[in-house]
Amino acid sequence: MCVGTVAEGNVAKGEEPATPAAIYLKDYQEYPYSIADLTMTFDLGEEKTTVHSVCRMSSKSGSSVPMMLNGDASLELKGLYVDGKPLVEGVDYDLSEKELLIKSPPSGDFVLGCITDIEPQNNTSLNGLYKSDGNFCSQCEAEGFRCITYYPDRPDVMTKFTVKIVGDKEKYPVLLSNGNLVAEGDLEGGKHYAVWVDPWKKPAYLFALVAGQYVALEDKFTTKSGRVVDLRIYTAAHNSHKTQHAMDSLKHAMKWDEDRFRLEYDLDLFNIVAADDFNMGAMENKSLNVFNSRLVLASPETATDFDYNRIEGVIGHEYFHNWTGNRVTCRDWFQLSLKEGLTVFRDQEFSSFMNSAPVKRIDDVMIVRSRQFAEDAGPMAHPVRPASYMKIDNFYTLTVYDKGAEVIRMYHTLLGEEGFQKGIDLYFERHDGQAVTTDDFYKAMEDANNTSLGSFKLWYSQAGTPTLKVTTEYNEGDKTFTLNCSQELPVTPDMTQEKKPQLIPIKIGLVSPDGKDLVLTSVQDSTGSETSIGNATTYVLKMTEMSQSFTFKNVPVKPTPSVLRNFSAPVKLEMEQSSEELKFLLSNDSDEFNKWEAGQRLITNLIFDLLKSHQSGQELQMDNSVTEAFGQVLTDDSLDKEFRAYAMELPSTEELADKIPKANPVDIHKVRNFVLKSLAAGLKDKFLQIYNANNVKGAYKPDREGKSRRSIRNCALSYLGKLADSDAEIKALLNTSFKEASNMTDQMAALGAICGNAGEDRENALKSFYTQWSNEPLVMLKWLGLQAGSNIEGNLKVMKELLEHPAFDIKNPNKVYSLVGGFTRSAVNFHAADGSGYEFLADLVIKLDKLNPQVAARMVGPFTKYKKYDDARQALMKAQLERILATKPCENVYEIVFKSL
Ligand code: TRP
Ligand code: ZN
Repeated sequence: MCVGTVAEGNVAKGEEPATPAAIYLKDYQEYPYSIADLTMTFDLGEEKTTVHSVCRMSSKSGSSVPMMLNGDASLELKGLYVDGKPLVEGVDYDLSEKELLIKSPPSGDFVLGCITDIEPQNNTSLNGLYKSDGNFCSQCEAEGFRCITYYPDRPDVMTKFTVKIVGDKEKYPVLLSNGNLVAEGDLEGGKHYAVWVDPWKKPAYLFALVAGQYVALEDKFTTKSGRVVDLRIYTAAHNSHKTQHAMDSLKHAMKWDEDRFRLEYDLDLFNIVAADDFNMGAMENKSLNVFNSRLVLASPETATDFDYNRIEGVIGHEYFHNWTGNRVTCRDWFQLSLKEGLTVFRDQEFSSFMNSAPVKRIDDVMIVRSRQFAEDAGPMAHPVRPASYMKIDNFYTLTVYDKGAEVIRMYHTLLGEEGFQKGIDLYFERHDGQAVTTDDFYKAMEDANNTSLGSFKLWYSQAGTPTLKVTTEYNEGDKTFTLNCSQELPVTPDMTQEKKPQLIPIKIGLVSPDGKDLVLTSVQDSTGSETSIGNATTYVLKMTEMSQSFTFKNVPVKPTPSVLRNFSAPVKLEMEQSSEELKFLLSNDSDEFNKWEAGQRLITNLIFDLLKSHQSGQELQMDNSVTEAFGQVLTDDSLDKEFRAYAMELPSTEELADKIPKANPVDIHKVRNFVLKSLAAGLKDKFLQIYNANNVKGAYKPDREGKSRRSIRNCALSYLGKLADSDAEIKALLNTSFKEASNMTDQMAALGAICGNAGEDRENALKSFYTQWSNEPLVMLKWLGLQAGSNIEGNLKVMKELLEHPAFDIKNPNKVYSLVGGFTRSAVNFHAADGSGYEFLADLVIKLDKLNPQVAARMVGPFTKYKKYDDARQALMKAQLERILATKPCENVYEIVFKSL
């Protein structure tokens, strides 16, 4: 199996554990050899697969220097040749756990041949070549290619691949790799072969191979310059009716990338394959994207609106990588955000275009705030461009992806769409075909706009979430409005020097008492400069200092400031605003993000006030004026229904816990639930009316109108569910809603609402759902996840049963993420005061560690946040981290546990 292990003696008895070697950005060195092309032959077998690779190489300097090749310990080296001459171990080369060193290769051009045997059928790590559902499938990002053959497995070594696949024709009728199919035919012994040539040079991490039994949905897309591209989506035959949405999404993505970014597809074929066993979401291998099947397959009966949106977004994401990632790739893995941050930004923009832009923005910000901020505040905090790592697998993080996308969005906010696009054009003009750095991207943005972005670059190198503090004053006499801003940069574990102020774009509007935005004329900044604002109603302040004030002139009346519109920077905004001001913004802010945000801040203040009462033993009392304010938004027909549903959503327990020291997650959950119940009770009639008005029958369509309608209907249902334990009428409504559901969105919403309360209805609904869907693994993920995340006390017992249930399989990452990941989101049970939830998670991590290091490492995540919680919970979580460490886990888990402790 392709599992990196901590070298013996690293965690020696009694000694300080020596860390597995960290790799540093500052140590980057160019690879001394270039590769003209690589020809590979895969002989696929049941016992072993033989890989023969032939590279035409040359020394860049023209002299002989030692050549390092990466190779996992699981490789069985069968032959190594230079210009046809076999090399001898110990004489010509040295072989260690992770590397093969050829001592003195020729100084000119030469051919390197390498033969390895591998065992994909025993590879449970799903890294390298492995089997899923009987089919061969590969995953090479970031460092999986070294589990296939010895090779310089680094993104700056690029070459042209020719791949011949040989396999049993009956078992593996479909043979796929990157590029174009140039030959195929039958061989003796029931075998056949296919030869694929990729004309674009690429790093090894973009290589892919798929072989097995598939059927394809086929379609065509004509690019703007007239190239006709064959599109194929491959799945197991029994899923072939679930690929239409993915195909539609792909065509939309191709068109959108031409229209918005002028980027066209560059081959005649684009393939997508669905794999059931997959560590992450999907992978952008050149012209052969491999997807986790949950991000391809959808039918109205089995997928929710949420799934439909996710599929559209991820299909877009992987497709967009063809330019941002493949045509221009990363010089080294420290630059991961070069492709991921940019591509996430692009997929976010695509989804906003296809759906509601404000709702998409709210969705993305919720993720950043509830999860990326937590990462930034924990032991694994790292900059968007990390300076060091032990296992790169551990750096496919919310920081690199989502904060990285926020950084790209800030360029866009600062330069405007036109300036941003100029920068993109220059980036491709300069770097097409290259492996580059985030500095190169930054330089292209600056140069194309003839500007200096100054301290903006620090967003790449300084970890942690800045806090932006704002106070305001209105001067009646000279009609000025001043914002006094200061930024605080937190201390993070990676820090080597004092942090410097980062350029923060603060988008602002001033709302006049009549609810309209005031026209802004000019602003003076405390560093002296005055800028005239051509009568706009929003303006982007550029904060460059640790503290700085901005004074708007000609402000006729005292306004209510709307600060950080559209979440213009990924910061924690601290600004006192009264409940009255927040209610005013909730009903009047023209910036939909800040309108939503005003509601969030209002309810957050309320929850924290209630938490104080709760912890001092007082009875909880709902603030009816807050209920009223929310009721107004809920019923405001001038607003998009989906937006209204989002406005009714309370900040997550996680996000709330992040805002207070030594949080008790169970208490937060209780208070949050009290607020949900109070809103449900106070607005019951309105919810009922909304539910009924939007409960229309008819065929499911994943269009905007349908999605909006279902989202407000199901928001109402979920609130009403909070009343079911004491209201027979509601109880009946939930059951009817569950029975009559004709699509998965409505069925899951009803099931979720029913499952909020223990009892017979819950048991029955779960049973009937299981009976209906036990043959649909993707639906079973929902069934597992719903039960796992339950906040009903004592649910750990159910978890233990589910681990043994036929619907669960520890080797399948999706099932682990649903069941185990789902459990860690249960405030009541994961954070049970006796530590039983923590012990359960540690047990699983230890088991997973032996099977799949990447998945095991991701499951350690919840423990890394232990410093957020009260002393008793901290001690319990820490004890589990120590227990994991004592089992001498693989490098992936080791890095996270070690850094946490
Ligand atoms: N590059 C992929 C994406 O963001 C994600 C990815 C990285 C991945 N490593 C992986 C996917 C390992 C599967 C397995 O689109
Ligand atoms: Zn990506």
